[in-house]
Amino acid sequence: MSESVVSFHSKKRVWPSEGFTRTPYWVYTDADVYAQEQTQIFRGDNWHYVGLEAEVPAAGNYKTTSIGEQSVILTRDEDGSLHVVVNRCAHRGNMICRDAFGTVKKLYCVYHAWSYNLQGDLAHAAFSKGLRGEGGLPGDFDLKNHGLQKLRVATFCGLVFATFSNTTPPLLDWLGDVAQGIQRVLKKPLRVLGYDTQKIHANWKAYHENPRDSYHANILHTFYGTFGLSRQSQESSMVLDKTGKHVYFYTKSGTEKPSADFDKTTTDLRSHNDNMKLEDPSILKWRDEFGDGVSVQILTTYPSFVLHQIANSLATRQLIPRGPHACDLVWTYFGFADDDAETTRMRLTQANLAGSAGMISVEDAAVCEMMQKAAADGQTGQSFIEMGGKTLESGGTSKLSERAIRNFWYNYQRDMNWDAT
Ligand code: FES
Ligand SMILES: [Fe+2]
Repeated sequence: MSESVVSFHSKKRVWPSEGFTRTPYWVYTDADVYAQEQTQIFRGDNWHYVGLEAEVPAAGNYKTTSIGEQSVILTRDEDGSLHVVVNRCAHRGNMICRDAFGTVKKLYCVYHAWSYNLQGDLAHAAFSKGLRGEGGLPGDFDLKNHGLQKLRVATFCGLVFATFSNTTPPLLDWLGDVAQGIQRVLKKPLRVLGYDTQKIHANWKAYHENPRDSYHANILHTFYGTFGLSRQSQESSMVLDKTGKHVYFYTKSGTEKPSADFDKTTTDLRSHNDNMKLEDPSILKWRDEFGDGVSVQILTTYPSFVLHQIANSLATRQLIPRGPHACDLVWTYFGFADDDAETTRMRLTQANLAGSAGMISVEDAAVCEMMQKAAADGQTGQSFIEMGGKTLESGGTSKLSERAIRNFWYNYQRDMNWDAT
């Protein structure tokens, strides 16, 4: 293999000759790389999660969110259809919706009162005919040429995705083998329980790698190992889509198989501490609601979406890049529309397992921020990603593997039009 040289207008960067088993630290810090990602990845041939159908249940409901840096609006039209448009007026670029959620009859720009229907078509431009024969828009002005920029929209099991690209494959084809993991959890109409938004002072890719990284799960997270929700000795597996873009892992608690290897290793792991006890163990009470014994399933779609089932805590996570050194992570907790009060209470109690201050997930953002600090200016150094082997296939379905991370960097380099070696 040879080094791949990545050129920008101002500089040349070199990807290590080992290819996707190494990540140079400039990829987490470089502003030109970040700018190119907006075009190649966030406006490229990928579907991006924008919300749940349950967040905009009625005609006129809207939600503002982002795809990459770009603010977009998800709307529900009078006929029940869903639309996603760029949150930027076609006149002179003012942001149209500022609230996170709302209900409107039309999308109205406060600057000069241009208004749009819920599909994003321009319906009215103030004073377009001028006044008393003066001013106004030219005779060839046509409302239909000045709508909001529209994205393609598709839904699956109550999740709403959008893409800027006309060449992104249909959503179900794009999701490939992880569609079954989504269907397993989202099997009934949903009800939103709440939100939690977390600012992470790290590059978005550091967080995206984290839920693809099954190696760390039972090591970094003390709570998982100590209280038995997820341990390496339990039955577990990985499902990686054939493109390598999307992945999910699952573990079945209570399926420990004795092994001398495991006993020897856990004596070195901080995460397995039999001396720790909870004063109130109610957070550990969970119900096998899907009937397959899976206690934890973490599913990630490229490049910015996570769906988790941790016991009975269900949530989506949306990753929004905020410059090379920061990102927002938006957690949306939900249950099913037909949950009884006791089930909802159980989900809300277990919501404390994850989220910005979650018993399990608090360490993830901390590690991403420590990695970003250690990367410093990114001029030197590279990571080493050979757990499970050196190829896109090696590691198989084992959780003691970085196969899903190697596959991420392979796809990333292809999307960026860099040589993927
Ligand atoms: S910028 Fe929106 S109406 Fe002028
Ligand atoms: Fe984690």
